[in-house]
Amino acid sequence: MSQPSTAAISAALATCRVAGLDAPLGEVASFLELQPGATGPRLRLRSTVPMAGLASAIASGLSAALPGLEGVVVELEPHIAAGARKQGVEALDRVGNVIAVASGKGGVGKSTTAVNLALALAAEGGRVGLLDADIYGPSQQLMLGIAGDRQPTVRDGKFFEPIMAHGLQTMSMGYLVTANTPMVWRGPMASGALQQMLQQTLWHDLDYLIVDMPPGTGDIQLTLAQKVPVSGAVIVTTPQDIALLDCRKGIEMFRKVEIPVLGVVENMAVHICSACGHAEHLFGAGGGERIAQAYGVPLLGALPLDIRIREQTDGGTPTVVAEPSGAIAAIYRDIARRTALHLARLQIAAPARGPVISFSND
Ligand SMILES: Nc1ncnc2c1ncn2[C@@H]1O[C@H](COP(=O)(O)OP(=O)(O)OP(=O)(O)O)[C@@H](O)[C@H]1O
Ligand SMILES: [Mg+2]
Repeated sequence: MSQPSTAAISAALATCRVAGLDAPLGEVASFLELQPGATGPRLRLRSTVPMAGLASAIASGLSAALPGLEGVVVELEPHIAAGARKQGVEALDRVGNVIAVASGKGGVGKSTTAVNLALALAAEGGRVGLLDADIYGPSQQLMLGIAGDRQPTVRDGKFFEPIMAHGLQTMSMGYLVTANTPMVWRGPMASGALQQMLQQTLWHDLDYLIVDMPPGTGDIQLTLAQKVPVSGAVIVTTPQDIALLDCRKGIEMFRKVEIPVLGVVENMAVHICSACGHAEHLFGAGGGERIAQAYGVPLLGALPLDIRIREQTDGGTPTVVAEPSGAIAAIYRDIARRTALHLARLQIAAPARGPVISFSND
């Protein structure tokens, strides 16, 4: 059977849909090359969102849609555009998109979501960093399994090399102070420390820098909004009504400072009994969906309240790497692709950064 033409492949991409991606393939993938291979054709696609986990589903979809693509192997090459940024905010060197993971309230699972989201984006093929912006109560050192006495290498007396953990470039206040250093800084000092960590870390060509925010809507959040080129925010909430009220505060704060809210993650949505597997809505059902609808933002996904999430993440091997082919990792990877998709859509709506080049005839 002869191979399909480039035009036929592009047409199939435009209409083909696969489970796990809320868009026709053509919105995020374009043709690069088709080569005959030993076991079948090899199709290289360029993608604007990381979605390595969908490669075989895409191959099945395309081989069903197009004669000549039976047994195709799909290879995805992610090219993630750098995010739009607010006027007057200086871009971070070598960081494409800064994504803040926040909530109005403490203890809803921001840090857990941030680290698993970062790992899920990396598993899908993105180049990802994680910055722990919780100056007073950093969690990421523990969640990433970094030894308490490990410190980042200093370059030229003022730059930090990020510490690599599970493939992520990471930085946290936890790396810079010991457990006995008192956290007596007031707001402005804490904001300054955050900016320093952001700007003095030698991030190496990141598509995404996930920022694990401290609870609340105070100074740190404002600094981040005003001084850092944040492309979008992910809001974490639990289904209780009170947490939802706090979630509203979080969404409104980002709206006020003109940072787009990429969506809401509902955490601890359902309790799965570890003995019998029974699912129970401890805090009521559908809260994340309601708030997402009320604010016109997407629900990015819902995580169960599951002891494995706590044990694995607090134990230094977050669920996405502890059980990479498990059901929970699959939810985080869905959330990661959805977050990346909404970010990519924003970049189409608002022009990406970079000089505008215009041509004239005179
Ligand atoms: N879906 C879940 N299932 C089970 N345990 C969870 C889940 N999400 C988070 N946890 C656990 O709940 C605790 C609080 O989570 P986490 O530290 O991520 O919250 P946080 O919002 O970052 O808190 P803070 O506001 O203090 O920064 C942790 O022990 C974490 O392992
Ligand atoms: Mg936290």
